[in-house]
Amino acid sequence: MKQAEQRILELCKALDHHNRLYYIEATPEISDFEYDKLYRELVDLEAEHPELVTPDSPTQRVGGEPLTAFEHVAHAVPMMSLDNTYTRDEVRDLDTSLRKLLGDTPFTYVVEPKVDGVAFSLRYEDGHLVTAGTRGDGTRGDDVTANVRTINSVPLRIETDAEVVEVRGEVYMPKAAFLAFTERQVAEGKDPFKNPRNATAGSLKQLDPRIVATRPLDAVLYGHGQLDGAGFDSHDQFLRQLKTWGFRTVPRYWTCAGIDDVLAAIDELETMRHDFPFEIDGAVVKVNEVELYATLGSTAKSPRWAKAFKYPPEQAETTVREITVQVGRTGVLTPVAEPEPVFLSGSEIKRATLHNADDIERKDIRVGDRVLIEKAGEVIPAVICVIKEKRAGNETPFKMPEVCPACGEAATKREGEVALRCENLQCPAQSVRLLRHLAARNCLDIEALGDIVAEKLVESGLATSPLD
Ligand code: IVH
Repeated sequence: MKQAEQRILELCKALDHHNRLYYIEATPEISDFEYDKLYRELVDLEAEHPELVTPDSPTQRVGGEPLTAFEHVAHAVPMMSLDNTYTRDEVRDLDTSLRKLLGDTPFTYVVEPKVDGVAFSLRYEDGHLVTAGTRGDGTRGDDVTANVRTINSVPLRIETDAEVVEVRGEVYMPKAAFLAFTERQVAEGKDPFKNPRNATAGSLKQLDPRIVATRPLDAVLYGHGQLDGAGFDSHDQFLRQLKTWGFRTVPRYWTCAGIDDVLAAIDELETMRHDFPFEIDGAVVKVNEVELYATLGSTAKSPRWAKAFKYPPEQAETTVREITVQVGRTGVLTPVAEPEPVFLSGSEIKRATLHNADDIERKDIRVGDRVLIEKAGEVIPAVICVIKEKRAGNETPFKMPEVCPACGEAATKREGEVALRCENLQCPAQSVRLLRHLAARNCLDIEALGDIVAEKLVESGLATSPLD
């Protein structure tokens, strides 16, 4: 028994360590195979000695039964929001008003990315994660502990002497993971989430943590609530402590001596905002010296020591040349707008999703329309709206086809689904998609089997299924 207890402890420690190297530092020291071996050993030992299972064992991330409703968590220190600014002049005004309030007291700034996710708060007591809550109304949020525990980069325990550590940040879905998740949703005939933020919020609202565990969520921390037994002189010192505790922090931040540096940091962040794994909708400017926060205080909703600077969403105007219908790997028919190519957020846009027929009808998008396109939450380009004043009168409304554009099979809806589908398993468009899927990097990774090769294989009849 003693031996088992000892070994369980060792395994938990080792797995926590490797977990952190893998998920936070991205520098794993052991292979997935070796990790799985340790994990299996722990699972087996815990099965033999259920009384030795601790709630923060790495095997206990995914809870058992779904909840019937969320309980509430009270935020002892309210979760506030930030006032937004939109122009560089407003950022200078911030500096002026801070100097008015602080007189001659010297201070510096930190500029961080504003992560476009869902705000949350983690509470650790004696180093153990006890609750995770959403912001809610700021003083009371939903208890999403079971869901947040499934996020691998959130440590279930941290090394600290502090009795209470409440840290705050954002849950998000990485942009790349969102694209793959959307593809999965579409393949299952579900109406996909419009952007990573919605996907994150929708996932956190799930009552069944086993479903949440399948969603590619991640979390980044940048702030704190109650801290008993820990304190910091400056925000950048706090950010370093977050890292030491094992949290994911913003990958880049700037400490700035004055407002000119702040503006330069805001500009630099704007040029690199698309390079982050998560979406960024602005910069957050914070006074670095924590001792000044009490003097500065806050308004009803937001502190005076921090402001958000919002970047304008990148939009472009173009003409819808055509609306085509794409047949997915599982036969789902999706309308796609083919606009005059334009540059947006660093890439040339040749196609834009229209989600589904309802979306087209709601926005009244017609072929020939001048439209605004935006990378919906930056990731997938989407048609935002029609510029109706620019209509010439010869634009043609779109109707979903009654048959599959690739094989002519009647398009049908499955019960409970919103999408139209082609149910013909021999449909060539589906075969091409399936071959492409099989060859994709996260599948068999066959480099030479791209779109064109897949099309030609199906067209010539050389291969129509993965077995071929
Ligand atoms: S600091 C007292 N830092 O943006 C509030 N917030 O619009 C302190 N956000 O409520 C918040 N990235 O949910 C802070 N680096 C960052 C942030 C950030 C995203 C969110 C947060 C906040 C909202 C304000």
